[in-house]
Amino acid sequence: MRIIRLTSDYQFGSFDCGESDLNDFLLADAKEYASKLLAVTYLIESDGIIAAFFSLSNDRISLAESDKATWRRIKNAFPHRKHRSDYPAVKIGRLGVDYRYKEQGLGNSILDFVKKSFVTNNRTGCCFITVDALPSAVGFYEHNGFHLLRKSDRENAETIPMYFNLTRLV
Ligand SMILES: CC(C)(COP(=O)(O)OP(=O)(O)OC[C@H]1O[C@@H](n2cnc3c(N)ncnc32)[C@H](O)[C@@H]1OP(=O)(O)O)[C@@H](O)C(=O)NCCC(=O)NCCS
Repeated sequence: MRIIRLTSDYQFGSFDCGESDLNDFLLADAKEYASKLLAVTYLIESDGIIAAFFSLSNDRISLAESDKATWRRIKNAFPHRKHRSDYPAVKIGRLGVDYRYKEQGLGNSILDFVKKSFVTNNRTGCCFITVDALPSAVGFYEHNGFHLLRKSDRENAETIPMYFNLTRLV
């Protein structure tokens, strides 16, 4: 397997992660997101097949979007003099594993890769990973150390904001 950054001349083969919005994003929109500097997409290729992809964008995590108890927990990661109402973050905008490669540890490995990249190799300060999780994927993110940004979101939401605290890894 290898990880590559999506480029404008990349020739897509088939990809199906079971969520048509995510498939369509990769095959129809990801190149334009890259050319407009909205998101960078990475592909995990195995024998020429796209096994998985994920997209990253700059983000921030803020008091305004959090509940108070969660923000207290977030602030506690920092000394008092560094308490703020927002902190820099990177957003996993999209993430999908092709059905041929599911349940083989690839989702976990992608999250580990993103965590490591932004602790050891980041060019700018970034203390959190954020994601607007599909309800069906909340368990997957929780399994990987992510928390809900707002406890109340769990019911009836299309997507659920979650975060991972990168300062835990430093
Ligand atoms: C969610 C998804 C990315 C997981 O990828 P994957 O490669 O199959 O996951 P992995 O094989 O790395 O397994 C992840 C771990 O999380 C667990 N897990 C997965 N989904 C879970 C869920 N809904 N609830 C609880 N745990 C879950 C697995 O049991 C596994 O546990 P393990 O580490 O003890 O083996 C993949 O199923 C997918 O592409 N789904 C459709 C698109 C999607 O939902 N993307 C996320 C959008 S926000």
